[in-house]
Amino acid sequence: MHKDIARVLYSREQIAARVHEIGEALSRDFADAAREDERGVVLVSVLRGAAIFMADLAREITVPLEMDYMAVSSYGNGAKSSGVVRILKDLTTDIKGRHVVIAEDIIDSGLTLSYLVKSLASRGPASITVVALLRKQTSAQADIDCTYVGFECPDEFIVGYGLDFAERYRNLPYIGVLKPEIYEG
Ligand code: IMP
Ligand code: MG
Repeated sequence: MHKDIARVLYSREQIAARVHEIGEALSRDFADAAREDERGVVLVSVLRGAAIFMADLAREITVPLEMDYMAVSSYGNGAKSSGVVRILKDLTTDIKGRHVVIAEDIIDSGLTLSYLVKSLASRGPASITVVALLRKQTSAQADIDCTYVGFECPDEFIVGYGLDFAERYRNLPYIGVLKPEIYEG
């Protein structure tokens, strides 16, 4: 796998340090909410890319939390967004009156998240907070209120630490840029 990577953007250590910081900030910001509602927050991961991020983030959060998963699709099996967002798997948790924290792997066009936030907002949660590990520096991005961003990354095709190309590279412990010849075939 490593030979397909043009360069490493964030090392395992850099990711761990940043995830720790985000966990600390979230714990601080939701301390009051967790006192009011002993169930704490509902941490929602968007499968499959954000699963690894959420697993690490959850262990850096010190307030009580529940974990739930959603699967949506805006990408086919390639590198280009189709612009179509579908819910493939919905939450099991009733989020009415709950503090919801959505953990997303990467914001590119922002279509996926803006759709997701709208869908969850219609269910009457106490609050919705978005945490994105990566945000691409693109010009045309849907307007998303993203409270926590791990890294502002370049507009290239990125893999590793949960992110895939055609379901590969998710298990790379670092985040890197995929060589264009791989996805240009
Ligand atoms: P958006 O709807 O364009 O923001 O796309 C978001 C989703 O597309 C993310 O959750 C990823 O699953 C996927 N995605 C976007 N950019 C990349 C990338 O560079 N590498 C891998 N997956 C990506
Ligand atoms: Mg994905």
